[in-house]
Amino acid sequence: MNNAAVDYINEKTNNFKPVTGIILGSGLGEFADEYEGIKIPYGDIPGFAPSKVVGHKGLLCFAEVAGKPVVMMQGRFHFYEGHSMQTVTYPIKVMKKLGVQNLIVTNAAGLVHTDFAPGDLMLIADHINMMGTNPLIGANDDDLGPRFPDQSDVYTKTLRAKAKEVGKKLGIDLKEGVYCAMTGPTYETPAEVKMQRSLGADAVGMSTVPEAIIANWCGINVLGISCLTNYACGILDQPLSHAEVTETANRIKEDFKKLLYELVKEV
Ligand code: HPA
Repeated sequence: MNNAAVDYINEKTNNFKPVTGIILGSGLGEFADEYEGIKIPYGDIPGFAPSKVVGHKGLLCFAEVAGKPVVMMQGRFHFYEGHSMQTVTYPIKVMKKLGVQNLIVTNAAGLVHTDFAPGDLMLIADHINMMGTNPLIGANDDDLGPRFPDQSDVYTKTLRAKAKEVGKKLGIDLKEGVYCAMTGPTYETPAEVKMQRSLGADAVGMSTVPEAIIANWCGINVLGISCLTNYACGILDQPLSHAEVTETANRIKEDFKKLLYELVKEV
């Protein structure tokens, strides 16, 4: 990878050195609005594509959060938008080159079973990649990571342990489970959700796994948090809507923002 994005960002931010990266998922982008800093539209950064999803702003935000230098993605690139896996994960490689050591990746996800409820927050313990592809397909960039990366601890255990402590302190009952990634943009069929349940998934969504794979590959610790916005298709006898997803994300956003702030402080 060339240095054009990193050079451009360094010039814009006067060599700001973030230690933590945050990807703000659907309906969760408001967190970044609360911090003064430097905000760069994705479309201005070499190698980034403009973000097109409604409700996703498409800004790379640099700010001090809880006294720590942080880079936040307000909106992400989704595979279902037609972006290549390279485009989807490029920001993570740029974060690595900027010096990021920890990545907090968030998303909205559907619940595959009824042990948890809409409105719960779930730490991602592991994932099942059902996107039918992998962001590391192609020539390997040996400068960033190995050809055959281990994935036994993609969602770093030590960060999860810290997150649980933070959750306890804040009185937020964090769940923990397996996230299954589909390409979207369709929601799943009832049969697909049944399959995911039988495979051991707890939540399903259309993001996160590509970014987590790349972060793990290039040595960034990952903490994944799903905002469980709805029961996945077929669990209730009713159709799903994007409105339901954003409504639930909106409902829990104050808890989510508090949690994120404390996590940045602790990791
Ligand atoms: N399925 C896939 N992605 C999602 C869902 C869902 O039910 N809810 C939020 N994102």
